[in-house]
Amino acid sequence: MTTLPTLPTPDFYDYSWAPIAEARPDGRFLHLRWPDGAELAAFDWWLRENAVDGGGVDLATREGILDPAEHSDETEMSSVELTEHGALRITWAPDGVVADYHPGWLRHVADGNHRADSWLPKPKPWTAEQLPEPPTHDGTNVLGDDEALGLWVADLLRFGIARLRGCPTDLDFNQQLGERIGAIRDTNFGVSWDVKADVEMAGSSDTNSTANTNLRLGPHTDLPTRETPPGFQFLHCVLNETAGGFSTMADGAAVAGALEVEYPEHYEALCTLNWVFFNRGPGIDHRWSGPMIDHGVDGSPLTLRAFYPVRGFPDMAPEDMPRAYAAMRVFSQLAASDRFQMSYPFEPGDIVGFDNRRILHGRDAFESGGRRHLRGIYIDHDEVRSFARVTSRRLAAKQP
Ligand SMILES: [Fe+2]
Repeated sequence: MTTLPTLPTPDFYDYSWAPIAEARPDGRFLHLRWPDGAELAAFDWWLRENAVDGGGVDLATREGILDPAEHSDETEMSSVELTEHGALRITWAPDGVVADYHPGWLRHVADGNHRADSWLPKPKPWTAEQLPEPPTHDGTNVLGDDEALGLWVADLLRFGIARLRGCPTDLDFNQQLGERIGAIRDTNFGVSWDVKADVEMAGSSDTNSTANTNLRLGPHTDLPTRETPPGFQFLHCVLNETAGGFSTMADGAAVAGALEVEYPEHYEALCTLNWVFFNRGPGIDHRWSGPMIDHGVDGSPLTLRAFYPVRGFPDMAPEDMPRAYAAMRVFSQLAASDRFQMSYPFEPGDIVGFDNRRILHGRDAFESGGRRHLRGIYIDHDEVRSFARVTSRRLAAKQP
């Protein structure tokens, strides 16, 4: 049995060895091919800046150290060869640097596993029939069990919503859960905030949000008033004496998909016409303008901006306003329909996590008095996706 060489890569992950079958220079590209037919067209300057310990990537930090201003027109591959184990070896002119590239690292780029959406579960849009209530996981030991937490987070990314049952009802538990995953997103509501419903409280002057009343809340996403609205919300039920007040959730990815097929003109209006959203209050003036359906760049998560209490102004030509309002009405009707909306009660010890930019959440009106206390946090996609990637890669590394 031959011993494979140890080659550092431009990151800290372990890559399976994947010997390259052919390396064919073609102008400024090097065409790599593997025995199973996988291919990668590697650009010369990209290869040069990924030479580990050869002036491209620092061995200690595994970060790039080649300032783009220093790329030289003289740079070229003076020789290209495959080592006996199928690694790529390039001798660079004019400085004579010899760099070996791990074939497994190159292969992960050929396979697209370097992309922002790699190592993450693929989103699975759902209707109310397909998902009548949130996928549910045992929350009794979720702080101490990486695998249990990883499975819950995977469902959170897949379905945009996942529930933990049986969590402690300590007031700080939700924040501890968020901190296990990453940095919590602070807002003007605070790091951790309360949604308290109490019949006595309706209409009182100390509430800063429609959420803190006993009124119905239509399907919405929180804080579209921000350049980047918070990625996820975790709502922890610590007390519930009420009847009614069920949570409602609809998958905005499924609603957007249905609009695209069934109402293409409304879909186009929702994707292209902007609205100004703003949080008003003594001492704050958060505003942002954007479309209600925002797909962002390829591979980024969907962003819906939909919250009528903070939707201020149409930011479009006057002639576009009739179709913008018509499209928004259909969007909201679909989001609130039995076809798309699930409905479920909160029990003390439940934590429901959901993608605040994908899932349209709301609440039915309460039917009886009593108190209900939810503790909420926001945590951004960056944190949840990083946690999920690390978990996925750790699990993959354990596979034989
Ligand atoms: Fe909300």
